[in-house]
Amino acid sequence: MNIIKLNAIDSTNSYLKNLANKTVLENYTVVLAKHQTSGRGQFGTKWVSGSGKNLTFSLLINFNDFKIEHQFYLSMVVSLAVLKTVKMNVKIPFTIKWPNDILADKDKIAGILIENILSGNYIKQSVIGIGLNVNQKQFPESIGKATSLRNISGIDFDKDELLKNIILAIQYYFVYIEKKEFKKLKELYLTSLYKYQKPTMFEDESGIIFLGKIVDVFEDGKLVVELENETTRKFSLKEIKFASR
Ligand code: BTN
Repeated sequence: MNIIKLNAIDSTNSYLKNLANKTVLENYTVVLAKHQTSGRGQFGTKWVSGSGKNLTFSLLINFNDFKIEHQFYLSMVVSLAVLKTVKMNVKIPFTIKWPNDILADKDKIAGILIENILSGNYIKQSVIGIGLNVNQKQFPESIGKATSLRNISGIDFDKDELLKNIILAIQYYFVYIEKKEFKKLKELYLTSLYKYQKPTMFEDESGIIFLGKIVDVFEDGKLVVELENETTRKFSLKEIKFASR
């Protein structure tokens, strides 16, 4: 594995994307930073992480034959891999909060930002950014309900070991994509999903609160929610959020 270790950088995703643009990089090249000055989250948000305390890294995957329409399967692979790794280390309930946050009980412990480099209808390369809260003890209120492996277990963790295990777990779940076993992969994802098949309050784009339950996720990543009148509605990332946790 080609691993580039940096003390500080704006964002490991931005760094790896630029590098992949300029040079041919080995599959599974990793950029790991102790500190990010402008860590990026989904939807243009910021990823704030205590310097040297957590895992903040990006991983490059090169593809030969991966259609854009299948991109959400990669998101499933990465979420399941992070989930597997945290579950191996601490025995509490962890889930995946759609689309790809990792929750420890109800608090966010990891976030994933996948950025794709496209060629026609195919994904040529993906830069997979992962932020996992490992040894940080205190979190600013401004970032919402967050926790770390340290906070839920009382012990410090070896970040290199966690990194190695996440990469191994990505390789493990990636086989489902290689073998085009998408149905099985989705089943694994759905059964690990926060509030899957449970009556839950949601909020739509216009601020309307409604009751529903998650029954499926489409391969484009859209969430399928069954409403009280037993009809289903599908929502894209920006169209729905959990009303309460
Ligand atoms: C999110 O939950 O909004 C996604 C957070 C992703 C954060 C990681 S940290 C390493 C990589 N570099 C970035 O700038 N972002 C990702």
